[in-house]
Amino acid sequence: MNLLITGGAGFIGSHVVRLFVESYPHYHVFNLDKLTYAGNLQNLADVEGRENYTFLKGDITDAAYLESIFSEHRFGAVLHLAAESHVDRSIAGPMAFVQTNVIGTVNLLEACRRAWAGDFEGKLFYHVSTDEVYGSLGEEGLFTESTAYDPRSPYSASKAASDHFVRAWFHTYGLPVKLSNCSNNYGPNHFPEKLIPLAIHNIKEGRPVPVYGKGENVRDWLYVKDHARAIDAIFHRGRVGETYNVGGVNEWRNIDLIELLCDVMDERLGREQGASRKLITFVKDRAGHDARYAIDSSKLMSELGWAPSVTFEQGLRKTVDWYLENEQWLEEVTSGHYRDYYREQYEHR
Ligand code: NAD
Ligand code: TYD
Repeated sequence: MNLLITGGAGFIGSHVVRLFVESYPHYHVFNLDKLTYAGNLQNLADVEGRENYTFLKGDITDAAYLESIFSEHRFGAVLHLAAESHVDRSIAGPMAFVQTNVIGTVNLLEACRRAWAGDFEGKLFYHVSTDEVYGSLGEEGLFTESTAYDPRSPYSASKAASDHFVRAWFHTYGLPVKLSNCSNNYGPNHFPEKLIPLAIHNIKEGRPVPVYGKGENVRDWLYVKDHARAIDAIFHRGRVGETYNVGGVNEWRNIDLIELLCDVMDERLGREQGASRKLITFVKDRAGHDARYAIDSSKLMSELGWAPSVTFEQGLRKTVDWYLENEQWLEEVTSGHYRDYYREQYEHR
């Protein structure tokens, strides 16, 4: 089967591409990616030469391009991860999120509908989404698959819209779809604009670690390879037309997480315990900052037998070690445009 994975040069996509290329030699994996600032083929350097892997540079907002690759490669399934993914960037410039996340997703749905021309037997469109579509929780409760959508940032609104379109194509046209909504991921290859890799980078450099507001916002963190394993399980064994929530059962207040990370970094860098905590700097809060996300993954766990394979402490140590061992990766992605982004985002906070 020819499998189209979109966004495979990004953080989660690269782990998904590697897992599918290595686990399913009878699939040919086509990785379609625009290579935005977040896409990096270095993430897949070890996969590049594999016989069952092909990279396609392209943009999902370009419907004609999609039509041409669908007719050339006759994909049997699509695993859709390509997106603009960073909340702060969506606040600074929402239109790219509308274009890629909404229009791009609808373009892909249409490309599948046309290419598969009503013969949906054995076909699949799998849409990877986020728990942020559910909005913000109070101190109690968890997001389940039936929680009403209540997106509050341009990013989450664009992902919510894309989820609605995917379900509409299932109900209206009978397109076989699956969806999953996952909590915050962390791990190797995470672009250092997101909290954990940004903090690792700054601690390493001895620079201030910016914590928004009072650091009391709560996120549910999942190791990226466990997300990739969940996607594999849902892709192969999940029920068509269904949504699965994916989460780490691992809630942390930002400030507690950053303090733990500082301590792990001190240990790994041979610094005196407590040294890196001095870098923590409280900065102006994010506009519309969601208070708490927490996921109920019991459907995925009971139906498909999935569970996280590492604890947070293990995953965080693996992540820190990866960043310390891959200095060149970090240097390359934090040169050039990254410096302008960082200045614009943090100078006035
Ligand atoms: P990422 O920003 O690291 O990667 C996105 C990839 O998509 C990049 O390689 C980029 O080049 C590509 N891309 C962007 N616009 C494109 C376009 N128009 N055409 C083709 N390719 C394009 O994102 P990520 O963190 O790996 O997230 C992947 C998916 O998982 C997204 O759909 C995101 O909403 C979802 N998700 C992410 C998280 C998280 O914590 N990172 C959690 C839950 C769900
Ligand atoms: P982020 O990694 O951007 O993920 P998301 O907004 O999708 O949850 O942010 C995680 C949490 O960390 C969120 O509550 C915002 C906060 N945060 C900071 O405190 N400082 C930072 O520099 C960043 C990027 C995020």
